[in-house]
Amino acid sequence: MASTAPTTLRWGIVSTGWIASVFVKDLLVDPKTRDVHDVVHKVVAIGSRSVEKAQEFIDTYAAGDKSIKAYGTYEGVYSDPNVDAIYVGTPHTLHYINARDALKAKKAVLCEKPVTSNAAELRSLLAIAKENNVFFMEALWTRFQPLVKDLKKIAEGGSLGEVIMMQADLCADFGVEKLSKSHRILNPDLGGGALLDLGPYPLVWAIIALYEHPSNNGARPSVINGSMIKTPLTNVDSNTSFTLSFTPTSSSTLSAQANLTCAINVRGNDPSVTIRYRHGTIHVAAPPYCPKWFKVEYFDDKGKIVREEKRVYEYVGGGWHFQADEVARCIRDGKIESEGWGWDKSLLEMDIFDEVRRQGGYVFPKGVEQVV
Ligand SMILES: NC(=O)c1ccc[n+]([C@@H]2O[C@H](COP(=O)([O-])OP(=O)(O)OC[C@H]3O[C@@H](n4cnc5c(N)ncnc54)[C@H](OP(=O)(O)O)[C@@H]3O)[C@@H](O)[C@H]2O)c1
Repeated sequence: MASTAPTTLRWGIVSTGWIASVFVKDLLVDPKTRDVHDVVHKVVAIGSRSVEKAQEFIDTYAAGDKSIKAYGTYEGVYSDPNVDAIYVGTPHTLHYINARDALKAKKAVLCEKPVTSNAAELRSLLAIAKENNVFFMEALWTRFQPLVKDLKKIAEGGSLGEVIMMQADLCADFGVEKLSKSHRILNPDLGGGALLDLGPYPLVWAIIALYEHPSNNGARPSVINGSMIKTPLTNVDSNTSFTLSFTPTSSSTLSAQANLTCAINVRGNDPSVTIRYRHGTIHVAAPPYCPKWFKVEYFDDKGKIVREEKRVYEYVGGGWHFQADEVARCIRDGKIESEGWGWDKSLLEMDIFDEVRRQGGYVFPKGVEQVV
């Protein structure tokens, strides 16, 4: 049988911070190690605000590969004809400008979470992606991990009954008292605080377990309640809790609630996600962005646990490469949007975050939001 050569996606990387380094390390992992044979990745350009930093990044994370071009501006990457797709790894409040400029240069874009500062910025980006007919996706990497695929099969297979309630948590102790106030976690100009940085992960689980549940049929939550505590250090949110209520509509039967929490000043829960069904419970390991196991408890008619099943996952790399494979496949197939993490989900996320910030009184400093 003739074998088909895998599709190569050529990546340009915008910024040289922590997340860019782990993403590039994952791009350089041989896809065959995760049983992927149809796509491969090549890093061809790194863009930084300083060319020395870009070269240092190549030396450190790509063994000084001479075929990778170092640019001292992000624009260099946008206009490089060898680049197919651009990964944006700058702080939140810069995502809009960086993704916009890349899309206008007709490059496909994978943009870090949270995809923008607000929903208006995202709507503007999606219009630009459509206008230029180019692929755009938020880097919600959790959604593409093999654990999620298996969990969804069980959760949607019917043996657990209706989904009723879920909790999901992502907290981390950043030692904020010792952190510089200009650090992106504390700095309101960079969209600091718990909600925008950590909130996408409890939310991704509410989207996986409730929004994507077949009984919901794509309906949005009818009620969003949010509460924030601000740190006196810079007035960004140190702790945020938000609740989403999904109630039946003319086209959906789901009646379920998600209680979601995030904080920058305390360790997180483990397990980090609990999804409760009429006939059982699914527990997902911490951290919720890249869990390595989940456990299902099945109940009898009296609610007693009669069976348990645990699945454990291992692979080479950090888990960011699964989303890169999705981007490569979508572009190969001529899509401008992923089905796994489509634009509707990023829009739902940003609309929820806008509402929670409104209820919590979190207003960005003037000039931060590029579109309002
Ligand atoms: N998916 C995940 O697992 C994950 C994990 C952590 C963070 N993130 C997301 O990734 C983004 C970056 O986080 P990070 O932890 O990588 O941040 P970081 O280490 O501070 O890196 C951010 C990079 O952005 C560039 N940059 C451009 N303008 C900047 C400015 N005004 N201030 C600071 N940096 C600026 C810098 O690169 P140059 O100097 O080279 O231009 C910097 O190295 C955030 O949106 C965050 O939510 C995602």
